[in-house]
Amino acid sequence: MIVRIANLLDPGTVAMMCERLAAADWEDGRRTAGGEAARVKQNEQLTETHPVAAELGARVLAALGQSQQFTSAALPLKVFPPLFNRYTGGGHFGAHIDTAVRLTEQPPYRVRTDLSATLFLADPKSYDGGELIIEDTYGVHQLKLPAGHLLLYPATSLHEVRPVTRGARLASFFWVQSMVRDDDNRRLLYEMDRALMQLRELHPQGHPALVRLSGTYHNLLRKWADL
Ligand code: NI
Repeated sequence: MIVRIANLLDPGTVAMMCERLAAADWEDGRRTAGGEAARVKQNEQLTETHPVAAELGARVLAALGQSQQFTSAALPLKVFPPLFNRYTGGGHFGAHIDTAVRLTEQPPYRVRTDLSATLFLADPKSYDGGELIIEDTYGVHQLKLPAGHLLLYPATSLHEVRPVTRGARLASFFWVQSMVRDDDNRRLLYEMDRALMQLRELHPQGHPALVRLSGTYHNLLRKWADL
């Protein structure tokens, strides 16, 4: 399941982040890519321990905590501390699948990557190329979202970032270990939760069927959740 979360960050926060990132010292992205990925990766990254990454990453985590849609879609157990990357001058990241387990020196230390996330920070009009191409069971998707929007997709999917031929593509990226490991089960819960939200709006006074249906949602979550 590919989920877009619109306006995770407001334009003011995005502008502040772009300014801070423009002034930061970047390093070769290949440093953190293992084996297969290192051969196809050409971009720049801020190290995990870089003070700008830590400060802006905390802002991203705070925004995720406020997003009902993120919670509903990802059912997060652990979130990897957000990292930042920049693609310029033909920079790209060829087709790869993300590492299954990511280690970090800070909490939560180990994250099984169930979901991959890209938070777009640059205005799409300010750069050419840089589309995120994701291959899943429904086909191939080409995505380039407005600044401040978040894209969540299964970390199991083959994906790539197309070469950036003008301007700079700035983004934050991270992974989520979900309480519900299986993407199909997570999707069922997300769709059920969205339908429940619509029904609650239609029945502000409540309804006996809503009580049963939200109970079923929680009983499924209880059945599938690993904590
Ligand atoms: Ni990747």
